[in-house]
Amino acid sequence: MSKPLTVLGIESSCDETAVAVVRRDEAGRVEVLSSLIHSQVVQHAEYGGVVPEIAARSHVETIDALATEALKAAGDVTLDAVAATAGPGLIGGVMVGLSFAKGYALARDLPLVPVNHLEGHALSAKLTEKVEFPFLLLLVSGGHCQLLIVRGVGDYERLGTTIDDAAGEAFDKIAKVLGLGYPGGPALEACAREGDVTRFELPRALLGRKDCAFSFSGLKTAAAKIAYEQVKTEQDRADLCAAVQAAITRQLVERTARAMTLFREQNTVKTPDLVVAGGVAANTAIRTALTDLSARHGFTFVAPPLKYCTDNAAMIALAGLEHFAAMGNMPHNTAADMAALARPRWPLDEKRAESAPVYKTQGRKGAKA
Ligand code: KG4
Ligand code: ZN
Repeated sequence: MSKPLTVLGIESSCDETAVAVVRRDEAGRVEVLSSLIHSQVVQHAEYGGVVPEIAARSHVETIDALATEALKAAGDVTLDAVAATAGPGLIGGVMVGLSFAKGYALARDLPLVPVNHLEGHALSAKLTEKVEFPFLLLLVSGGHCQLLIVRGVGDYERLGTTIDDAAGEAFDKIAKVLGLGYPGGPALEACAREGDVTRFELPRALLGRKDCAFSFSGLKTAAAKIAYEQVKTEQDRADLCAAVQAAITRQLVERTARAMTLFREQNTVKTPDLVVAGGVAANTAIRTALTDLSARHGFTFVAPPLKYCTDNAAMIALAGLEHFAAMGNMPHNTAADMAALARPRWPLDEKRAESAPVYKTQGRKGAKA
């Protein structure tokens, strides 16, 4: 039995402004009372990717009304806390959401819980499924590509991350070269359906390594070269899309298989869960491949409903709720809450990331998360 809690969640780390209200009752049942998302896809489409300044401005224009609407849709609730994404993400957007949350918390005298966006994804399956700790998480979105062991709330071990692009970013960038529009993932998947997967051969990255690192930049360059030199017809384009999708799928499967072995070395759970989160989890070929892989390795494949796979505020509210519950009855410290910082980079497994050679560097080679 635990105290029932209701938390307002705010998400603004990329190109979606989102507000949600989530409740957990005495029996631990989670209910999403409202979850609203304002997508900026149209605003970024003509640029073929997210423009940080446009994103931040759009969050400013949207968040107030969206929060009012989400609170109204949740009904007559008494909030216990406000949770907001404090990173990692595009810093302008993160600052908008976090500042809004601070203002709201201050005005209502509510505690503020700064949430790591990746932790939101890590716990998102718990919004609808009964997932037991520890589980293996594959997070594949436009900004992140990593494998984690989730031992409990706040207890994560990152097994591997990308050393260059995220999987969704690879889909988007290759789709852009092929003139498929933005976001590229769904468009590339649709185009791949008509393609012959055996026609083009693409490179496999980091094959000799035993870890769970990802890399997609070689694939991106190779695909761009084929696109410029050999893609002349619709069929050529479909064939290349099929090859790209297969190559990304293969890499995700190979690394997840390694992660499953590492997971087994540390844990004795008989049938652990493989949870997949992030927008790329919408891809049918990837889902099918991961379902097969899970069956072969004795894992249960769990994918949250699509609306909770992609960026949303319900997952942020839930992560905040879990942290708030873990703090027990400690009185909240308004000054500390107001001092919470927006962070462009914030690895879930901070200790391990700090010892990684790329952690301190900036730019494309820095640790993505
Ligand atoms: O999680 P998400 O909505 O936003 C973040 O990046 O955090 O993920 C968006 C990404 C984009 O890169 C998009 O192209 C990709 O997910 N995506 C897909 C599919 N649907 C969305 N990639 C491949 N196949 C899809 N069907
Ligand atoms: Zn995300």
